[in-house]
Amino acid sequence: MTAAAPRIRVAVLAGGRSSEHAISIASAASVVAALDPAQYEVLEITIGREGRWELPAARPAALLPGTAQSIVAADGGSIAGVDVVLPILHGPFGEDGTVQGLCEMLGVAYVGAGVLGSALGMDKAVCKAVLRDAGIRTAESLTLLAHRDDPDDDALHDRVEAALALPCFVKPARLGSSVGISKAHDRAELAAAIALAFAHDDKVLVERLLTGREVECGVLGNEAPIASAVGEICPRNEWYDFEAKYVEGASDIIIPARIASADMARIQEASLAAFAACDLAGMARIDFFLEPDGGLVLNEINTIPGFTSTSVYASLFAASGLRYADLLQRLIELALDRHARRSRLRY
Ligand SMILES: Nc1ncnc2c1ncn2[C@@H]1O[C@H](COP(=O)(O)OP(=O)(O)O)[C@@H](O)[C@H]1O
Ligand SMILES: [Mg+2]
Repeated sequence: MTAAAPRIRVAVLAGGRSSEHAISIASAASVVAALDPAQYEVLEITIGREGRWELPAARPAALLPGTAQSIVAADGGSIAGVDVVLPILHGPFGEDGTVQGLCEMLGVAYVGAGVLGSALGMDKAVCKAVLRDAGIRTAESLTLLAHRDDPDDDALHDRVEAALALPCFVKPARLGSSVGISKAHDRAELAAAIALAFAHDDKVLVERLLTGREVECGVLGNEAPIASAVGEICPRNEWYDFEAKYVEGASDIIIPARIASADMARIQEASLAAFAACDLAGMARIDFFLEPDGGLVLNEINTIPGFTSTSVYASLFAASGLRYADLLQRLIELALDRHARRSRLRY
């Protein structure tokens, strides 16, 4: 009898300090349930809302206060002792390059985009500039800064109306799950929307209203990524707000989207172009609007998309023939490949 291959040690990071903490916990539970115990030794690390890192009770030595040094110093249960980190963390302190930077410092492989790609995917304002440079269209917008722009300033409202018209969308530049986002139908709503967004971020985007179909495409790979089937989001609410995303039955996800195959191909091509332009790796879900005049506008990039087995990203690849467990296996392989390749570089 041959000895079994050693199991790959995977640290699944869940929770985190962002307002998407609970979503991350649900995604991570799905991931852990799908990782084959014969192949993977899974270490679940939960990061509390206040930033405290906690390992399962079976490893009491490793209550981590959350600094890189203490993680390095912790016993074999630390993330420095695993083969690959699977950060299932959405939003700030997880999806934005911070955890990725920590993994880089520790020299450990991790799933998904690196520091730059993660930070770009998180910052909707800076991302637009990079996409524009790559010839990819995004929604016309104004960027507001808390120290400079007053939510109640009439001149600001004039500028928004002249440049973008009403209704418009107002969003924190660096968040997710539709938290802090509003559709502002009139000036009173605009002032309230800007104030709300500033409660979540000191950088805020005001965008032209995009119309038509909201469509999403998954990307998987490193240097030669593949695009998934394209799906269409049909929220029951006026737009795809928090409730529409997470309340059972509040939205329909139609895969494949009810669009022409030529449009499907354009969306896949634009997704791969955005993936390359933003220096992404491993995975991403790229979200667009296909407007009634045929214009394709990239709305946003998610470097750690919702990750339960029924989330859009997994469903898009399932429709392309890749099962959830195989998708996870592929992502772990991609992380290990990328790490091995980068480890050979001389700095
Ligand atoms: N410019 C826009 N025009 C129309 N709808 C928008 C616009 N921006 C956002 N939305 C709606 O709000 C939702 C959330 O916005 P999004 O930019 O994707 O932020 P998040 O990162 O929170 O998902 C989108 O899925 C879409 O339904
Ligand atoms: Mg979104």
